[in-house]
Amino acid sequence: MILELLNKPKGDPILSVMSAFKNDVSSAKIDLGIGIYKDKYGKTPIMQAVRNASVSSAVSEESKSYIGLVGDEHFNTAMQDLVLGKCEASLRASTLQTPGASGALRLLADLIKLSRPGARVWLSNPSYINHRTIMEKAGLEVCEYPYLDLETKQVNEALMMKVVETLGENDVLLVHGCCHNPSGADLSFDAWKKIAQLSQKNGFLPFIDIAYQGLGDDLDEDAKGLRFLVDQVQEVLISTSCSKNFGLYRERTGAAIVIAKTQEKAKEVRIHMGELARGSYSMPPAHGAAIVSKILNDVILKKQWELELKEMRERILALRHALVESFRIKSDSNKYDYILSHKGMFSMTGLSDAQMLKLQQEHSIYLVPGARINIAGLQTNEVDRVVSSILAVAK
Ligand SMILES: Cc1ncc(COP(=O)(O)O)c(C=O)c1O
Repeated sequence: MILELLNKPKGDPILSVMSAFKNDVSSAKIDLGIGIYKDKYGKTPIMQAVRNASVSSAVSEESKSYIGLVGDEHFNTAMQDLVLGKCEASLRASTLQTPGASGALRLLADLIKLSRPGARVWLSNPSYINHRTIMEKAGLEVCEYPYLDLETKQVNEALMMKVVETLGENDVLLVHGCCHNPSGADLSFDAWKKIAQLSQKNGFLPFIDIAYQGLGDDLDEDAKGLRFLVDQVQEVLISTSCSKNFGLYRERTGAAIVIAKTQEKAKEVRIHMGELARGSYSMPPAHGAAIVSKILNDVILKKQWELELKEMRERILALRHALVESFRIKSDSNKYDYILSHKGMFSMTGLSDAQMLKLQQEHSIYLVPGARINIAGLQTNEVDRVVSSILAVAK
């Protein structure tokens, strides 16, 4: 017997919040848990540029034959350009389409394991909840570096660098490219410079997960630190996602980008990645990548997408302003002003697990473990109730 040997599954903490929300019968329930964007009607819309590209790619598609281990090459080139911009490092980069950023994270973790089985991967404390799972499932040792100052809700870069300074050739430093999940607190440009300098000096491998490009300041600004770093360092791994900025969540669209010492090495590494993919999901799904490729390679569709992305970004920013204003009035303090300095979809509320449960049970407001609030899931008319409820349970 094999199945009988399995323990009871623990369940995914984010997905279990989703099901608790589903089972809540309150008509006033609010889901600020899972990281999806909602528009002013409370819907997660299909972007118009995506809809247009989807229709035209469905019409022009000629075959459902396999697309190959590396995926759609037009998509790969366009994604590499989107992330790296005009970096010199593009000349020694190679890109492979993956099933979402999750697929890229796992593939790159497998690549690390293949090359350096004893490598340690360093994650920010806190980090995206699935980073640890993915790295550990690939058989890698996971360590944490200090990141968020729980008092100020800003990055404690001095403390972080004390650990980064100790890393060497056996270490991989995983950083968020922008819009840190779960905190919203991003690295300063000086911190990116310091990481580049330390990596050059001590030989650790930077691994950048950029899942929210365009949802912070703009597409270029959000990649500024990443683009600086890749030009300074010989080897960098990057995972990127089209789930949030193209709203393609269920289409499982992302990419793994590898920067190597030479173009030749980068090409070789991509063959390794293809072989690793062959040993698991084999080939990525086609539809999402076809849509993204169409958008990024068409001037009009690209402009339309950029405008829609800007609208999403501005809506999140307006919600941040509304939250801070409401917190100021209701708490008679500026304790929550940090929400305005954060980037992207999330911020931290600072609630304990017990307070979060109370928020769920007494107010039908759902956050995820760690008390992250998905600001991008909020409606303007819910702001005051959310603020009053958080303040009530925080007492
Ligand atoms: C930081 C980070 N990386 C990766 C992912 C995974 O994204 P995808 O849906 O493309 O697999 C997420 C999703 O929430 C994320 O927040």
